[in-house]
Amino acid sequence: MIKIAPSILSADYVNLQRDIEKVDQGGADYLHIDIMDGSFVPALSYGPGWVKAIKPITGLVLDVHMMVINPERYVEDFAKAGADIIGVHVEATPHIHRALQMINNAGSKAEVVINPGTPVEQIKPVLHMVKQVLVMTVNPGFGGQKFLPETVSKISQLNQIKKQQNLDFDIEIDGGVNDKTVVEAYKAGATVAVAGSYIFDADDPVSRINALKQATK
Ligand code: DX5
Ligand code: ZN
Repeated sequence: MIKIAPSILSADYVNLQRDIEKVDQGGADYLHIDIMDGSFVPALSYGPGWVKAIKPITGLVLDVHMMVINPERYVEDFAKAGADIIGVHVEATPHIHRALQMINNAGSKAEVVINPGTPVEQIKPVLHMVKQVLVMTVNPGFGGQKFLPETVSKISQLNQIKKQQNLDFDIEIDGGVNDKTVVEAYKAGATVAVAGSYIFDADDPVSRINALKQATK
């Protein structure tokens, strides 16, 4: 069964606590928080203040996805705010090793993220430093996009490396996840699925969490 990380990007911000409690009680494992800087991706979203505000109202693992240029400028702020996992894009900094080191030193779990156009080879040198790898299954920046099936072979590749080198990281997918697309990714080795619109655009978000779990039993 795959772990579920609802993305609050598609939640109702005016009723954020209500939506978070719904997925928390409904069997989610993580809460995915998308940080967008208006530069690495076009949109602006939220900063460490949101993580700090969310921390006391939920026991879910706070999974912070930084779509931010030179993320090392902010990783300590997110760690201090209560982020359990901090993900940084390999495309967003010439110093991915240092950024991951900073996350580990700050006491959060380090995650490296790759875009659909980035090969797994690019993150091989840092895989021993992370607890999670995020394979983007859409181009980052917006919710509600279509899952890109060509990303699945990268999940298999990572899963193979993980076994061969006896490494210990989760493989997360993000973008276009629903009860159909999750199946292929799960079979290839994905262990965590982010879902935004599929969960929060539904009348009953909990039924969608259950559908994702059912599909990966
Ligand atoms: C996209 C974000 C995702 C987004 C996914 O850049 O990283 O986390 O919320 O949305 P859906 O599940 O609707 O594709
Ligand atoms: Zn995300």
